Amino acid sequence: MVENIKILGIETSCDETAAAVVTNGSQIESSVIASQIELHARFGGVVPEIASRAHVEAIYPVVTQALEQAKIKPADLDAIAVANQPGLSVALIVAVTAAKTLAFALDKPLIAINHIHAHLQAAMLAEEKIDLPAVALIVSGGHTSLFDCESALDLKLMGSTIDDAAGEAFDKVAKILGLPYPGGPSIEKTAKNGDPKAIAFPRSMLDRDSFDFSFSGLKTAVLYYCQGQDMKGENKVASMSEKEIADIATSFQAAAVDVLTIKTIRAADYIKAKTVLLGGGVAANSALREQLQKACDETDRKLLIAPRHLCTDNAVMVASLAYHKYKAKQFADLALEPKASY
Ligand code: KG4
Ligand code: ZN
Repeated sequence: MVENIKILGIETSCDETAAAVVTNGSQIESSVIASQIELHARFGGVVPEIASRAHVEAIYPVVTQALEQAKIKPADLDAIAVANQPGLSVALIVAVTAAKTLAFALDKPLIAINHIHAHLQAAMLAEEKIDLPAVALIVSGGHTSLFDCESALDLKLMGSTIDDAAGEAFDKVAKILGLPYPGGPSIEKTAKNGDPKAIAFPRSMLDRDSFDFSFSGLKTAVLYYCQGQDMKGENKVASMSEKEIADIATSFQAAAVDVLTIKTIRAADYIKAKTVLLGGGVAANSALREQLQKACDETDRKLLIAPRHLCTDNAVMVASLAYHKYKAKQFADLALEPKASY
């Protein structure tokens, strides 16, 4: 019998309300994302209470639209999946409550998904089989982590950031440079007109044996550059030319991408990885995609990157990973709670 497992995924861990229906883990029937970027833009970052309220308003229309687009009746779903960790508790709770309610009312299995693992799944979506061992780099606004990846469900954390996440550094540096939120895409756009070697910003590698990251020193170096070492001077950005700002943006991006690439290859060497996986919001960055591709080509490894539209938060990745948990009969019960930490 041909298998036809249809799963509804729901995601509200940060500032996107998302729902999707995916068949057999890879066939996307629908994907709906309501972004809150405009609500948070004037604060230069996500405000948890505003996010929570916006999720409450959006969750019903988003889920309804995902079912309509997929042309599926709720009763024909095989399971309901939800990202219940990590993220902002007040945001996660909205999807968790919606998923539990649907699972109870429809009498369908509930599947709990780790948001970080789901980002990784986005890189594996199109692959039938992955050459193991594999190293996975997840770079987002909240996380920067390296995993030893045995399968979609079997991930061992090798290292993560000890301070800011890479995406957070992009967002904060954009703010320093007066560029619009979210910072990642703004920096990437501005960086196109600059010289990546213009300013030698630090590459924090920590010690040679570590797979951890640190981005706060890099962010502070940009701040010092713009404001002077004593931090008492005025932010000089207002009087800088577009070229000067572009030089800072691209020099910062080059430093961040160098660290991410070198550490990923270091981790890949350590576990003798044949494959490298890249996912998360920052994986949309062209400089990172290109540099990691070059490093993988040079070390004879296959690189799998999430398609650009599935790098930032979405529910396709949640419903897709849930298929593997469905097959492994890893179900959650209705006592499922959101969990802020990884
Ligand atoms: O995965 P995501 O949507 O949310 C979290 O799970 O955090 O990632 C959002 C992050 C933001 O920090 C955003 O600035 C960054 O991803 N980002 C980028 C790019 N697009 C999004 N960073 C660098 N270059 C980009 N093109
Ligand atoms: Zn994310």
